[in-house]
Amino acid sequence: MELVHSGKVREVYADGDDLILVASDRVSVYDVVLPTPIPDKGRILTQLSLWWFERLADIVPNHVVSAADVPAEWAGRAIRCRRLEMLPVECIARGYLTGLGLQEYRKNGTVSGVALPDGLTEASQLPEPVFTPTTKAAEGHDEFITYDEVASGIGADTADRLRELTLRIYSRGAETAAERGIVIADTKLEFGRAPDGTIVLADEVLTPDSSRFWPADQWRPGQPQNSLDKQFVRDWSSTLADWDRTPPGPRIPDDIVEATRARYVECYERITGESWR
Ligand SMILES: Nc1ncnc2c1ncn2[C@@H]1O[C@H](COP(=O)(O)OP(=O)(O)OP(=O)(O)O)[C@@H](O)[C@H]1O
Ligand SMILES: [Mg+2]
Repeated sequence: MELVHSGKVREVYADGDDLILVASDRVSVYDVVLPTPIPDKGRILTQLSLWWFERLADIVPNHVVSAADVPAEWAGRAIRCRRLEMLPVECIARGYLTGLGLQEYRKNGTVSGVALPDGLTEASQLPEPVFTPTTKAAEGHDEFITYDEVASGIGADTADRLRELTLRIYSRGAETAAERGIVIADTKLEFGRAPDGTIVLADEVLTPDSSRFWPADQWRPGQPQNSLDKQFVRDWSSTLADWDRTPPGPRIPDDIVEATRARYVECYERITGESWR
């Protein structure tokens, strides 16, 4: 099989018209891959994505061909999927304000050109979820772009469809997670186009790498949240005085590895209601 892309977290192989997406146990913070893996992370991301793809299928078709028909060595962490022409937009929906969205709001009062009310703070819930797309930069960090910029890049019809799908998927995800005591603060989706032009949901979906998950009973606007996602590793890394967020990344100590793994497992178990074996 031909390796077509080695990303920060996943390897992508081509097999005929299909791709095999293999999720590793790597973790990246600030776009730097850390040298220490988080055991089970890749399988958890893959299994959780599969769970969501199925539950979103009435909203949008997805790229999954098979989770079983993959090389045995990658069983559980790989998905055979349709090879799509990816749309060059990171489709982000935000229901709560934090991270880069909050930074942008504090600068401009807007995120991706969407005006937000005054007086919002760390972890505030937004009046309604908003679509805050970013570029999908091949090099360097992604940047916020306005809806109009998306429309002029890929056409107004496609932009409209991406916004609608992103908000519907986020809303379904947030409602589902809320019933299980988890706030999904925001999420990033990627879509591609099938040969017949259909817009298809691709990549990973509503995982702790692509989303922010907070325990609902601990949600307190005005302060950083206790997060069940990758933010936990970012927070730990930001306590390191001597790391400037450029490669090479720092080795993760055992207790942080274990606490991170526990969070990924907790996300999986609470959301799906199944125990992680
Ligand atoms: N069905 C699909 N068809 C084509 N490409 C896909 C499909 N699903 C996901 N991808 C792409 O596969 C790659 C997955 O790799 P990964 O998530 O590790 O990359 P990344 O670290 O996020 O980003 P980068 O590509 O910048 O390294 C992404 O570039 C994603 O856009
Ligand atoms: Mg990715």
